[in-house]
Amino acid sequence: MPVITQSHSPDDLDFSPRRKSFNLEEVLASDWHGGGAYRTAWFNAMSLLFPLGEKFFIDSVCHFLDEIEDPKLRQEIASFRAQESTHRLQHQKYNELLCKLRDYDLDRFEKNERERMAWAYRELPARRRLAGTVANEHLTAIMANDMLSNQDVFNDVDPEIARLWEWHGVEETEHKAVAFDVFLAVGGTVSERRQALLLNSFFFFKDTLRNVCIMLQKDGKLWSIREWASGFKFLFIKPGMLRRVIPAWFSFFRKDFHPWQDDNRQLIDAWEKRQDHSPAADHSH
Ligand SMILES: [Fe+2]
Ligand SMILES: [Fe+2]
Repeated sequence: MPVITQSHSPDDLDFSPRRKSFNLEEVLASDWHGGGAYRTAWFNAMSLLFPLGEKFFIDSVCHFLDEIEDPKLRQEIASFRAQESTHRLQHQKYNELLCKLRDYDLDRFEKNERERMAWAYRELPARRRLAGTVANEHLTAIMANDMLSNQDVFNDVDPEIARLWEWHGVEETEHKAVAFDVFLAVGGTVSERRQALLLNSFFFFKDTLRNVCIMLQKDGKLWSIREWASGFKFLFIKPGMLRRVIPAWFSFFRKDFHPWQDDNRQLIDAWEKRQDHSPAADHSH
Protein backbone atom coordinates (compact mmCIF):
# COMPACT_ATOMS: atom_id res chain seq x y z
CA MET A 1 0.00 0.00 0.00
CA PRO A 2 1.49 3.39 -0.90
CA VAL A 3 2.22 5.60 2.07
CA ILE A 4 0.68 9.01 1.71
CA THR A 5 2.79 11.91 2.94
CA GLN A 6 0.63 14.56 4.55
CA SER A 7 3.01 15.82 7.21
CA HIS A 8 5.48 18.44 6.01
CA SER A 9 7.27 18.77 9.32
CA PRO A 10 10.97 17.88 9.59
CA ASP A 11 11.41 14.09 9.56
CA ASP A 12 13.05 13.95 12.94
CA LEU A 13 10.61 16.31 14.66
CA ASP A 14 9.17 14.47 17.60
CA PHE A 15 7.10 16.11 20.30
CA SER A 16 4.71 15.27 23.07
CA PRO A 17 3.13 17.20 25.94
CA ARG A 18 5.09 17.93 29.09
CA ARG A 19 3.41 17.73 32.43
CA LYS A 20 3.81 21.04 34.14
CA SER A 21 2.37 22.83 37.09
CA PHE A 22 2.89 26.41 38.14
CA ASN A 23 2.48 28.17 41.42
CA LEU A 24 0.98 31.53 40.49
CA GLU A 25 -0.93 32.26 43.69
CA GLU A 26 1.14 35.26 44.72
CA VAL A 27 2.27 36.64 41.42
CA LEU A 28 -1.15 36.96 39.76
CA ALA A 29 -2.41 39.24 42.51
CA SER A 30 0.06 41.90 41.42
CA ASP A 31 1.07 43.86 38.34
CA TRP A 32 3.55 41.09 37.75
CA HIS A 33 5.07 42.45 34.54
CA GLY A 34 7.66 44.74 36.12
CA GLY A 35 4.92 46.68 37.93
CA GLY A 36 3.39 47.85 34.63
CA ALA A 37 -0.41 47.70 34.71
CA TYR A 38 -0.79 47.77 30.93
CA ARG A 39 1.87 45.15 30.21
CA THR A 40 0.48 42.87 32.91
CA ALA A 41 -3.04 43.33 31.54
CA TRP A 42 -1.83 42.56 28.02
CA PHE A 43 -0.51 39.12 28.97
CA ASN A 44 -3.43 38.40 31.28
CA ALA A 45 -5.78 39.35 28.44
CA MET A 46 -4.09 36.88 26.09
CA SER A 47 -4.27 34.15 28.71
CA LEU A 48 -8.00 34.79 29.04
CA LEU A 49 -8.49 33.95 25.35
CA PHE A 50 -6.64 30.63 25.45
CA PRO A 51 -8.99 28.07 27.07
CA LEU A 52 -11.85 28.71 24.64
CA GLY A 53 -9.54 29.34 21.70
CA GLU A 54 -7.52 26.19 22.17
CA LYS A 55 -10.67 24.10 22.49
CA PHE A 56 -11.75 25.52 19.15
CA PHE A 57 -8.35 24.69 17.60
CA ILE A 58 -8.47 21.08 18.82
CA ASP A 59 -12.02 20.62 17.53
CA SER A 60 -11.32 22.10 14.12
CA VAL A 61 -8.26 19.92 13.57
CA CYS A 62 -9.79 16.69 14.92
CA HIS A 63 -12.89 17.18 12.78
CA PHE A 64 -10.76 16.03 9.82
CA LEU A 65 -9.04 13.11 11.49
CA ASP A 66 -10.71 10.56 9.18
CA GLU A 67 -9.14 12.23 6.15
CA ILE A 68 -5.61 11.91 7.47
CA GLU A 69 -3.84 8.70 6.52
CA ASP A 70 -0.21 9.61 7.03
CA PRO A 71 0.73 7.96 10.35
CA LYS A 72 3.24 10.74 11.05
CA LEU A 73 0.62 13.45 10.77
CA ARG A 74 -1.86 11.39 12.80
CA GLN A 75 0.73 11.10 15.55
CA GLU A 76 1.37 14.84 15.36
CA ILE A 77 -2.35 15.53 15.68
CA ALA A 78 -2.49 13.37 18.81
CA SER A 79 0.44 15.31 20.32
CA PHE A 80 -1.05 18.64 19.23
CA ARG A 81 -4.30 17.73 20.91
CA ALA A 82 -2.55 16.66 24.11
CA GLN A 83 -0.42 19.81 24.21
CA GLU A 84 -3.32 22.18 23.61
CA SER A 85 -5.41 20.38 26.24
CA THR A 86 -2.66 20.91 28.80
CA HIS A 87 -2.36 24.57 27.81
CA ARG A 88 -6.10 25.00 28.25
CA LEU A 89 -5.98 23.46 31.67
CA GLN A 90 -3.05 25.55 32.90
CA HIS A 91 -4.48 28.78 31.50
CA GLN A 92 -7.91 28.00 32.91
CA LYS A 93 -6.30 27.69 36.34
CA TYR A 94 -4.38 30.91 35.68
CA ASN A 95 -7.54 32.75 34.64
CA GLU A 96 -9.68 31.55 37.52
CA LEU A 97 -6.98 32.44 40.01
CA LEU A 98 -6.46 35.84 38.39
CA CYS A 99 -10.16 36.65 38.55
CA LYS A 100 -10.42 35.49 42.15
CA LEU A 101 -7.37 37.43 43.28
CA ARG A 102 -8.21 40.64 41.45
CA ASP A 103 -11.97 40.43 41.63
CA TYR A 104 -12.47 40.27 37.85
CA ASP A 105 -15.50 38.77 36.12
CA LEU A 106 -14.33 35.78 34.05
CA ASP A 107 -17.57 35.47 32.06
CA ARG A 108 -17.35 39.05 30.92
CA PHE A 109 -13.84 38.51 29.54
CA GLU A 110 -14.92 35.44 27.59
CA LYS A 111 -18.25 36.74 26.34
CA ASN A 112 -17.24 38.07 22.90
CA GLU A 113 -15.05 35.11 22.09
CA ARG A 114 -17.76 32.66 23.13
CA GLU A 115 -20.33 34.39 20.93
CA ARG A 116 -18.04 34.52 17.93
CA MET A 117 -17.24 30.85 18.24
CA ALA A 118 -20.90 29.95 18.44
CA TRP A 119 -21.31 31.98 15.26
CA ALA A 120 -18.41 30.14 13.58
CA TYR A 121 -19.91 26.75 14.44
CA ARG A 122 -23.29 27.85 13.14
CA GLU A 123 -22.29 29.70 9.99
CA LEU A 124 -18.90 28.50 8.76
CA PRO A 125 -18.00 25.26 7.02
CA ALA A 126 -15.47 23.09 8.84
CA ARG A 127 -12.64 24.02 6.47
CA ARG A 128 -13.10 27.73 7.20
CA ARG A 129 -12.93 27.02 10.91
CA LEU A 130 -9.73 25.10 10.26
CA ALA A 131 -8.35 28.05 8.26
CA GLY A 132 -9.06 30.23 11.32
CA THR A 133 -7.11 27.78 13.45
CA VAL A 134 -4.21 27.78 11.00
CA ALA A 135 -4.13 31.58 11.17
CA ASN A 136 -4.22 31.64 14.96
CA GLU A 137 -1.50 29.04 15.17
CA HIS A 138 0.61 31.31 12.97
CA LEU A 139 0.05 34.19 15.39
CA THR A 140 1.03 32.10 18.41
CA ALA A 141 4.02 30.59 16.60
CA ILE A 142 5.51 33.93 15.57
CA MET A 143 5.04 35.42 19.03
CA ALA A 144 6.58 32.31 20.60
CA ASN A 145 9.52 32.53 18.20
CA ASP A 146 10.07 36.17 19.14
CA MET A 147 9.83 35.49 22.86
CA LEU A 148 12.19 32.52 22.81
CA SER A 149 14.78 34.01 20.50
CA ASN A 150 15.09 37.44 22.10
CA GLN A 151 14.39 36.51 25.70
CA ASP A 152 13.69 40.11 26.64
CA VAL A 153 9.90 40.04 26.82
CA PHE A 154 9.96 38.75 30.39
CA ASN A 155 12.76 40.83 31.89
CA ASP A 156 11.78 41.99 35.39
CA VAL A 157 9.21 39.25 35.68
CA ASP A 158 8.68 36.67 38.40
CA PRO A 159 10.45 33.51 37.12
CA GLU A 160 7.50 31.22 37.77
CA ILE A 161 5.11 33.07 35.44
CA ALA A 162 7.86 33.52 32.85
CA ARG A 163 8.29 29.75 33.01
CA LEU A 164 4.63 29.22 32.11
CA TRP A 165 4.81 31.54 29.09
CA GLU A 166 8.04 30.00 27.86
CA TRP A 167 6.77 26.45 28.22
CA HIS A 168 3.67 27.41 26.22
CA GLY A 169 5.83 29.09 23.60
CA VAL A 170 8.03 26.02 23.21
CA GLU A 171 5.08 23.72 22.60
CA GLU A 172 3.49 26.20 20.18
CA THR A 173 6.77 26.04 18.26
CA GLU A 174 6.79 22.25 18.22
CA HIS A 175 3.26 21.90 16.87
CA LYS A 176 3.20 25.01 14.71
CA ALA A 177 2.57 23.12 11.45
CA VAL A 178 0.01 20.54 12.54
CA ALA A 179 -3.14 22.52 11.73
CA PHE A 180 -1.41 23.81 8.60
CA ASP A 181 -0.63 20.31 7.29
CA VAL A 182 -4.17 19.10 7.99
CA PHE A 183 -5.46 22.16 6.15
CA LEU A 184 -3.28 21.32 3.12
CA ALA A 185 -4.32 17.67 3.26
CA VAL A 186 -8.02 18.51 3.09
CA GLY A 187 -7.63 20.91 0.17
CA GLY A 188 -7.49 24.23 1.99
CA THR A 189 -6.65 27.09 -0.36
CA VAL A 190 -4.17 29.94 -0.19
CA SER A 191 -6.89 32.56 -0.31
CA GLU A 192 -8.84 30.90 2.51
CA ARG A 193 -5.87 31.05 4.81
CA ARG A 194 -4.92 34.59 3.78
CA GLN A 195 -8.41 35.84 4.56
CA ALA A 196 -8.38 33.93 7.81
CA LEU A 197 -5.16 35.60 8.92
CA LEU A 198 -6.56 39.07 8.26
CA LEU A 199 -9.77 38.32 10.08
CA ASN A 200 -8.24 36.48 12.99
CA SER A 201 -5.51 39.05 13.54
CA PHE A 202 -8.20 41.71 13.75
CA PHE A 203 -10.22 39.74 16.28
CA PHE A 204 -7.15 38.79 18.28
CA PHE A 205 -6.37 42.50 18.76
CA LYS A 206 -9.94 43.46 19.37
CA ASP A 207 -10.50 40.80 22.03
CA THR A 208 -7.15 41.34 23.71
CA LEU A 209 -7.58 45.12 23.82
CA ARG A 210 -11.12 44.80 25.10
CA ASN A 211 -9.90 42.65 27.98
CA VAL A 212 -7.02 45.03 28.66
CA CYS A 213 -9.50 47.91 28.90
CA ILE A 214 -11.80 45.99 31.25
CA MET A 215 -8.88 45.21 33.54
CA LEU A 216 -7.46 48.74 33.50
CA GLN A 217 -10.89 50.15 34.21
CA LYS A 218 -11.38 47.84 37.16
CA ASP A 219 -7.95 48.87 38.46
CA GLY A 220 -8.72 52.57 37.98
CA LYS A 221 -6.02 53.03 35.33
CA LEU A 222 -8.00 53.13 32.11
CA TRP A 223 -7.29 56.84 31.59
CA SER A 224 -3.67 56.77 32.66
CA ILE A 225 -1.64 58.17 29.78
CA ARG A 226 1.48 56.86 31.45
CA GLU A 227 0.22 53.27 31.37
CA TRP A 228 -0.89 53.46 27.74
CA ALA A 229 2.40 55.04 26.70
CA SER A 230 4.36 52.39 28.55
CA GLY A 231 2.22 49.62 27.02
CA PHE A 232 2.62 51.07 23.53
CA LYS A 233 6.34 51.36 24.01
CA PHE A 234 6.60 47.77 25.22
CA LEU A 235 4.58 46.34 22.31
CA PHE A 236 5.87 48.48 19.46
CA ILE A 237 9.15 50.15 20.37
CA LYS A 238 11.27 48.52 23.07
CA PRO A 239 11.44 45.56 23.12
CA GLY A 240 8.63 45.86 20.56
CA MET A 241 7.31 42.30 20.61
CA LEU A 242 4.57 43.14 18.09
CA ARG A 243 6.73 45.27 15.82
CA ARG A 244 9.31 42.51 15.61
CA VAL A 245 6.83 39.89 14.41
CA ILE A 246 5.54 41.97 11.49
CA PRO A 247 7.82 40.42 8.82
CA ALA A 248 6.96 36.90 10.01
CA TRP A 249 3.28 37.84 9.98
CA PHE A 250 3.58 38.85 6.32
CA SER A 251 5.43 35.69 5.33
CA PHE A 252 2.16 33.78 5.76
CA PHE A 253 0.79 35.54 2.66
CA ARG A 254 3.34 33.87 0.41
CA LYS A 255 1.78 31.28 -1.83
CA ASP A 256 4.28 28.59 -0.90
CA PHE A 257 4.47 29.43 2.79
CA HIS A 258 4.97 26.61 5.28
CA PRO A 259 5.65 27.09 9.02
CA TRP A 260 8.77 24.88 8.95
CA GLN A 261 10.46 27.00 6.28
CA ASP A 262 11.69 28.73 9.42
CA ASP A 263 13.30 25.79 11.20
CA ASN A 264 13.71 27.27 14.67
CA ARG A 265 14.08 24.04 16.62
CA GLN A 266 17.30 25.33 18.14
CA LEU A 267 15.07 27.48 20.38
CA ILE A 268 13.44 24.35 21.80
CA ASP A 269 16.83 22.76 22.48
CA ALA A 270 18.12 25.93 24.11
CA TRP A 271 15.05 26.06 26.33
CA GLU A 272 15.44 22.41 27.32
CA LYS A 273 19.02 23.13 28.33
CA ARG A 274 17.96 26.11 30.43
CA GLN A 275 15.43 23.88 32.20
CA ASP A 276 18.13 21.42 33.19
CA HIS A 277 20.16 24.15 34.79
CA SER A 278 17.41 26.20 36.33
CA PRO A 279 16.78 25.97 40.09
CA ALA A 280 13.05 26.20 39.25
CA ALA A 281 13.27 23.11 37.02
CA ASP A 282 10.02 21.23 37.16
CA HIS A 283 10.10 18.13 39.31
CA SER A 284 6.43 17.30 39.04
CA HIS A 285 6.87 14.40 36.62
FE1 LIG B 1 -1.42 26.41 23.11
FE1 LIG C 1 -1.19 25.90 19.33
